[in-house]
Amino acid sequence: MKIQELNAWEILDSRGRPTVAVEARLEDGSIGQAQVPSGASTGTHEAVELRDGDPHRYAGKGVLRAVSHVTGEIAAAVKGMDAHRQSALDRRMIELDGTPNKGRLGANAILGVSCAVARAAAASSKIPLWLHLAAGRTASLPVPMVNILSGGHHASHNIEFQDFLALPHGFATFAESIHAAAAVHKAAYDLIVEAGYTLTGVADEGGWGPLLRSNGEALDLLSKAIERAGYRPGEQVSIAIDVASSHFFRDGRYHLHTEGRILSGEEMVEQLVDWCARYPVISIEDGLAEDDWDHWPRLTKALGGRVQLIGDDFFTTNVARVRRGIAERSANAVLVKMNQIGTLTETLEVTGVALAAGWRAVISARSGETEDAFLSDLAVASGAGQIKVGSITRSERLAKWNRLLELEAKGGLTLQPFGA
Ligand code: PGA
Ligand code: ZN
Repeated sequence: MKIQELNAWEILDSRGRPTVAVEARLEDGSIGQAQVPSGASTGTHEAVELRDGDPHRYAGKGVLRAVSHVTGEIAAAVKGMDAHRQSALDRRMIELDGTPNKGRLGANAILGVSCAVARAAAASSKIPLWLHLAAGRTASLPVPMVNILSGGHHASHNIEFQDFLALPHGFATFAESIHAAAAVHKAAYDLIVEAGYTLTGVADEGGWGPLLRSNGEALDLLSKAIERAGYRPGEQVSIAIDVASSHFFRDGRYHLHTEGRILSGEEMVEQLVDWCARYPVISIEDGLAEDDWDHWPRLTKALGGRVQLIGDDFFTTNVARVRRGIAERSANAVLVKMNQIGTLTETLEVTGVALAAGWRAVISARSGETEDAFLSDLAVASGAGQIKVGSITRSERLAKWNRLLELEAKGGLTLQPFGA
């Protein structure tokens, strides 16, 4: 079915910053909309998010230029193309942009079109989005990774590590997994209040962001919260952390101020090994910095046999970086964020390359999100097996969990066991 028209406009994300919304209309009248997310702790190698830079609107963060690229140049180039041929559409936009990082038209413009057209194509075929995206792959519900405590860029730099997440890996259904994560979230709240910490609402992704003394203290608190909620750590609910270490890496060293230590790459690896021995940590994201290629293989050698080691800022959903990581045994999993690369086709390619190499893939939201739950369908369709969208508060997060609960309730999809 041919693309007839693209419309686009500026909306606000969950931090109150502008982002792009796109609507695609096909010749049969089918319509698809998509909203583009936005990160705060972004990787250097991400595709470009085009901002207006006009200081009189949203402190320069407006996206009217990206919007006009959708309705102008991109619409002119893709009108008449077949909405069911996603890779041809995405290739056309990449060529039209002409830069290696989508810096001319903006990854926010291109991704909006990529996803809106996929939705319209699904509507035209009268099938759910996940089934359209699966295109022959085995679809399954992902295990959720749920933010409980936040730090770093998402919580006013209280502590260095960015996310302390509950990973409910010992349950048969998605609904039971979310239930366990919600119970841990509540138990963590009770422990924080009992310990006398002041809480002033939730952090950017809906987790608690108390002013803890150190990263170690956060690990301690989360371990206790899992037990307080009545679960066996390591068996039913374990810990995942997003160290987001690029954001405290300077001059070749890791600056862990709250621990009172500045570490070399080797020492950072030792520190992570030690934390995994002391706490039920089974997944570490960005344990090392985005260009610390030398130390990533050492971390993988030390922990890769028993801990999931994910590259987020390290790989930026970029297939060339993931291929290098596979060749150098740098990690064993990739975080997949559509707007880090800017098209649906490239996103699915990265996921496919990772899974084919025996790696794991985690489909992820951004810290700046919208009510769009596209990535829930993407997680199901890609067979990635895991998803990370923040906590169990804030509706931009719940849109994603609730979509997965809906898909499970309607039947026909089962939870992919963790690590399978
Ligand atoms: P971001 O954070 O969206 O702010 O980049 C999410 C993450 O690091 O996983
Ligand atoms: Zn991350």
